[in-house]
Amino acid sequence: MKITIITKLICLVALAMVISCREKTTESVMKPTDPHSFAQPAVARVKHLHWKAAVDFDNKIIQATATWTIEASADADLITFDTKGLTIEKVTLNDNVVAEYRLADNDSILGQALAVLIKPGTTQVNITYKTSPDAEAVQWLNPQQTAGKKYPFLFTQSQAILARSWVPCQDSPGIRFTYDAEVTVPKDLLALMSASNPQAKNDSGIYTFSMKQPIPSYLLALSVGDIAFKPISERSGIYAEPSLVDTCAWEFADLEKMIAGAEDLYGKYQWDRYDVLVLPPSFPFGGMENPRLTFATPTILAGDRSLTSLIAHELAHSWSGNLVTNATWDDFWLNEGFTVYFETRIMEKLYGKDYAEMLASLNLQGLHEEIKSLNDAGLSADTKLKLHLEGRSPDDGVTEIAYNKGYYFLRTIEEQNGRDKFDQFVKDYFTQNAFKVMTTEEFIPFIRNYYQQKFSIALADSLFQDWIYTEGLPAYCPTPASDRFAKVDAILSQWKSGSTIQPAATSAWSTHEWLHFLKNLPDTLSLQQITALDALGKFTASGNSEIITAWGVIAIRNNYTKAYPKIETFLINTGRRKFLMPLYSELIKTPEGKKRATDIYTHARPNYHFVAVSSLDKLLGR
Ligand code: BES
Ligand code: ZN
Repeated sequence: MKITIITKLICLVALAMVISCREKTTESVMKPTDPHSFAQPAVARVKHLHWKAAVDFDNKIIQATATWTIEASADADLITFDTKGLTIEKVTLNDNVVAEYRLADNDSILGQALAVLIKPGTTQVNITYKTSPDAEAVQWLNPQQTAGKKYPFLFTQSQAILARSWVPCQDSPGIRFTYDAEVTVPKDLLALMSASNPQAKNDSGIYTFSMKQPIPSYLLALSVGDIAFKPISERSGIYAEPSLVDTCAWEFADLEKMIAGAEDLYGKYQWDRYDVLVLPPSFPFGGMENPRLTFATPTILAGDRSLTSLIAHELAHSWSGNLVTNATWDDFWLNEGFTVYFETRIMEKLYGKDYAEMLASLNLQGLHEEIKSLNDAGLSADTKLKLHLEGRSPDDGVTEIAYNKGYYFLRTIEEQNGRDKFDQFVKDYFTQNAFKVMTTEEFIPFIRNYYQQKFSIALADSLFQDWIYTEGLPAYCPTPASDRFAKVDAILSQWKSGSTIQPAATSAWSTHEWLHFLKNLPDTLSLQQITALDALGKFTASGNSEIITAWGVIAIRNNYTKAYPKIETFLINTGRRKFLMPLYSELIKTPEGKKRATDIYTHARPNYHFVAVSSLDKLLGR
């Protein structure tokens, strides 16, 4: 059907108004508006995605058509998508009726709204587009950046609001959709998504995927590379580059036990398979809970299984986050706080209370340090669990607050009223809210009603006030009781009063004891002291990324030049932001260090993902 010039004009004016006016109408009575998305789900929302794409390594471009099945309100005349850096080539409705659309001006954080005019009866919107070579979610690796050094590699990182840089979507965690995909890649490579996955390459280079459970856009994921698979159990396994897959399978041998343990705690795993893809070292995070296929950093391959709590963490997100999802990034603690709690319980179940208490204790120290640094930076409002990130990047909310203040809040409720009750609550919370969206303001009455009705317990107002809406940490925050760390503390205090540490005293220490030791050394060490410590713990020679980072900070602070080459190599080869930030931050504290940091960064920057680059550019003043 043809639109008359007048109607067209009216529509375009309406479009412009909608795009420029971020105020949303009555739809927001039910759920808060997501300040990080242009979507207006009450007007028209997506339900299913069919994604047909070709991955072009030569030009670093994904050429694709996103066919969205939509649901629009009766009087809807447009649907709005989020995009960032996409080149929109064509938009059609249903069976190829050309559609009117408008791409709004670019916002440096949010990107560009794409508004498409729809008609009564529009059920499908087909968007043909290509990504830009520097799409923020996508990292294109050259062969040199892989273990095999032979083939290029690609992975995406969509959380929090980067999905829009590779798929035009309604990029808000409250909007779920199912998807299927057909992806064409170079013939030597395998493609994987956050969906049902192939386990081996085929001759065509065309792979198909299906995700039947509805997911929010931040869980869209793709990876392409020379990837092999090794099963761990009937329903789980490891993907990695061929030369690494055995090492990975050994490191994560307890994967099935973790899944079974998690189910035992809080109910059935709802996503069918659970596989882990171990990526090249430029992956900017430790892990990402892409449904069915966790993406993980190779920096947790410690060779002794000591860093596998990260897998428990990503697995736990299959409930907290992927089933029950934060409504907006202001409620991020609901995702991460519950996940750290669940992760710690999985680790306790598998490896005992003393193991879990070491993790909790390290987390508490990290939390105290984060609160101090946020306060020092004038960001003390960010130490509340409930955030207000409108106008800022949601990345600003990715701090220890959501994770570990969130964890200690939940642990407080557990300890105040008993673990049995809390476990019953958590399980029902996940079940009753599965595939739904949760706000902090809905969570509070939910847990209060639950405790009231099930156990006749009235949870105090102050509990929520103190943790969620107050800065810092309440004085009654629980303290973990770690006997193993108490022993470390005893040795530390003897050392501080001048006695040398006998190797026998530390020979049974795990990574965690060493980390606690390193993180509690005095700030200043003499050359003699630091040399003796290195001889004791072999830190400079360590292959454990957590140890290298903790030690690196100490070495930089104390001018321990012997460790510099190691730190430099580590900074160049590793893209995990959690390690880069403390090392670069320590380096820039002196003028000479700042020069070294700048030199290393100039060299390493092309190896890092956008997420790491944007934090480091800020830190190093680029
Ligand atoms: N979902 C997060 C990673 C994330 C958060 C990416 C926010 C983008 C925005 C993931 O589950 C996570 O928390 N990873 C942690 C590991 C964990 C053990 C604390 C990480 O990457 O360090
Ligand atoms: Zn997480």
